[in-house]
Amino acid sequence: MTYEPTLEHACRRDEADPLRAYRQRFALPRDERGKPTIFLCGHSLGLMPLAARQLVTEELDDWARLAVLGHEHARRPWIPYHENLTEGLMHLTGAKAGEVIAMNSLTVNLHLMLASFYRPAGKRTKILIETGAFSSDRHAVTSQLAWHGLDVAGHLLELTPPAGTDTIPEEAIESCLEQHGPEIALVLWPGVQFRTGQAFDLPRIARAARRAGAVMGFDLAHSIGNMPLALHDYDADFAVWCSYKYLNAGPGAIGGCFVHERHLLQDIPATRGSSSVAAGATQPPHLMGWWGHEERTRFRMESQFRAAPGISGWQISNPPILAAAPLIASLAIFQEARIENLRAKSVELTGYLESLIGRLEPDARFITPREVRARGCQISIRITGSPTRGRRAFEKLGERGVICDWRDPDVIRVAPVPLYNTFEEVFRFSEQLAQVLREIA
Ligand SMILES: Cc1ncc(COP(=O)(O)O)c(C=O)c1O
Repeated sequence: MTYEPTLEHACRRDEADPLRAYRQRFALPRDERGKPTIFLCGHSLGLMPLAARQLVTEELDDWARLAVLGHEHARRPWIPYHENLTEGLMHLTGAKAGEVIAMNSLTVNLHLMLASFYRPAGKRTKILIETGAFSSDRHAVTSQLAWHGLDVAGHLLELTPPAGTDTIPEEAIESCLEQHGPEIALVLWPGVQFRTGQAFDLPRIARAARRAGAVMGFDLAHSIGNMPLALHDYDADFAVWCSYKYLNAGPGAIGGCFVHERHLLQDIPATRGSSSVAAGATQPPHLMGWWGHEERTRFRMESQFRAAPGISGWQISNPPILAAAPLIASLAIFQEARIENLRAKSVELTGYLESLIGRLEPDARFITPREVRARGCQISIRITGSPTRGRRAFEKLGERGVICDWRDPDVIRVAPVPLYNTFEEVFRFSEQLAQVLREIA
């Protein structure tokens, strides 16, 4: 596919886009004068699906109308509310029923998973992460080490990109696991790196972790709703994510969690829906709360804990209905549009962006890999020149109605999201960036 650096070309691409109608199903932000902005920040907080308002309003109405009776009699009863989300999450994660759940938020879920799966024993005590890991992931991991009485210096392995590069080749992860394998208890890796936009080959990393005898956990904050996933087939042990980025479920929305069926017990019959977890699996211990108790007998409030089947047993508290309702709206859109179709459009959008930014080199440089399989929606651009030039360029883009974001020390992140962004916006963004760079040469 050839790309032309003209507005006409961009508009022609939009007209030919089979997914173009989905844009109308989102609230498109405007500036204070009511002018449409160029929103390219779905990697941070996705746009509001218009249907979310109705879903939230329905829950408020049911609360007003039914009060406590809404737990059982709301149009979507609150007790099993999270089950409204399971099918959509299965589609996006490639999980089996019983392996995936919406609950809590990302870092909380990460702690719950580490409580279950980080079991240092003998020589196998280390956790492997990347040097540039998202701060919250590193905090979670270092505090878990401390929880076990282990020091960071001796037990946290951090893999750095090769000198002079920004990204970590999968070979480097494999070599590290080969070299340190017997000491590594757990690998925590992102699906897409938040700063560089690098998308990792997850099945390859999971295979390497398993060969080394380590537990494999993924942070999919920047992957879910961005790229197709097949967590069950990847044989990951666990994964966690948030729903406010590509899943468009709103600020502080309910997060999600995956545990592979080989860690799940099915010794208690499911009371609702079906669970396909493996017979004979052994389940690691997990932190408990009443919502992880089997649903049928939960309200007997017995002192003995009887785990709900599958990953449901990991639940702690009753679900935040108002933080989950928008996700129902968003997942319905994903199920209609299909993640494979969205990925195909995303590849075209980032391909177009790459060709346009290529014309701005050496002032602007892609740090996201050029290889299509190694990137998702997000493109990270380094602005060269003085140390303050990038930040100034970012601020000037904001003044011109471009919503993107900045990551210290020198990266502008943009993400054309196939559900609601257009080729025209990609073109206009590159024009604005070109002008801004000329102004602050
Ligand atoms: C990669 C990654 N990990 C963890 C977090 C923290 O998420 P939360 O505040 O939902 O726990 C984020 C938030 O953006 C993230 O991008």
